[in-house]
Amino acid sequence: MQTLSLTGANGVSDIYIETGLLDRAGAVLSDIFTPSRIHIVTDSTVAPLYLARLEQQLSLPVSHTVIPAGEEHKRLCTVETIYHDMLSAGMTRKDLVIALGGGVVGDITGFAAATFLRGVSLCQIPTTLLAQVDSSVGGKTGVDLPEGKNLVGAFYQPRLVLIDPGVLSTLPEATFADGMAEVVKYGYIANRDILDMVAHPDYRYRIEEIITECVKIKRDVVAIDEHDTGLRMILNFGHTIGHAAEKLGGYTDLTHGQAVAIGMAAAMRLSALMGNADLTAPLLSLLAHIGLPSALPYDREEIFRALLSDKKKFGGTVNFILVREPGRAEITPIDAEALHTYILKL
Ligand SMILES: NC(=O)c1ccc[n+]([C@@H]2O[C@H](COP(=O)([O-])OP(=O)(O)OC[C@H]3O[C@@H](n4cnc5c(N)ncnc54)[C@H](O)[C@@H]3O)[C@@H](O)[C@H]2O)c1
Repeated sequence: MQTLSLTGANGVSDIYIETGLLDRAGAVLSDIFTPSRIHIVTDSTVAPLYLARLEQQLSLPVSHTVIPAGEEHKRLCTVETIYHDMLSAGMTRKDLVIALGGGVVGDITGFAAATFLRGVSLCQIPTTLLAQVDSSVGGKTGVDLPEGKNLVGAFYQPRLVLIDPGVLSTLPEATFADGMAEVVKYGYIANRDILDMVAHPDYRYRIEEIITECVKIKRDVVAIDEHDTGLRMILNFGHTIGHAAEKLGGYTDLTHGQAVAIGMAAAMRLSALMGNADLTAPLLSLLAHIGLPSALPYDREEIFRALLSDKKKFGGTVNFILVREPGRAEITPIDAEALHTYILKL
């Protein structure tokens, strides 16, 4: 088993990674926590697959909330439902909340744990690839508002993250590919060995190792910049143009992973236009190998406008993540006018 730890402002998060770990979760939890009861939050897709497998290992009183699956339920009213369920189950500040699911369940449950009785212990058991390599680690929690995604939230580190790559076997192909976009991102920003592993025809056989390498990068970045005031921005490679594309597609035409893949390809072309080494071709073949798109399907002028309204805009410049060589990226402020010219040429 791989054990990693992340030291944040409010203590240590342990991160355990092993195939089959879900079936040993009860033993691992009782080594770390001493609650009187446990509340599990999961969603309507994950519940029939994994909830009973987790609950049957727990010897304490257990209650649960099953929220409807989907980003559209990442809302304050869902958090309120979780509060009511926890109160009626008799949860106190000494008890434990477990998030069992993808990034939506993780973000909502994290926010509920951060705010219920001003904070109760949290364990994340991520069940999508995206949640395993990204959202379950680092302590960002929150919900969406009608005005935009992730506009309300808190930094709240889970005490424990249990990652079982075995649960990925039930993921739809497209959801797995979405997570792979983040994997490719990690490879380009910090560790080219990940890219070599993913380029292999049978890369899924090494998924546990790939996840571990990604989590190490996320852990290292968050350890330096827990509250996202600088270096953590490096994790946004592909996300600046990706978010603009997602927005133009009304959040329905493209999945998040597809938008990130398109955004990475566009960022690579933009970097070449700026006179840097052209690393586009190998990225495009890797994305095709995984089953992700790379062509930007929207009008460039509209992309630029959507991008300027994105939160990463700062004064007259936009912070762009440019890959200098596979495994090494830099946060590069680009003047908005110059960026406009480059984007029109993409
Ligand atoms: N907190 C962070 O740092 C952070 C980082 C990145 C993304 N996010 C957030 O994560 C969310 C996206 O997460 P996601 O891509 O995991 O989406 P998701 O949670 O909606 O899961 C995708 C789908 O897969 C299903 N599913 C989950 N596990 C499954 C399994 N093992 N087998 C079969 N089906 C399964 C879910 O029910 C859902 O229908 C977004 O809300 C995003 O804002 C947060």
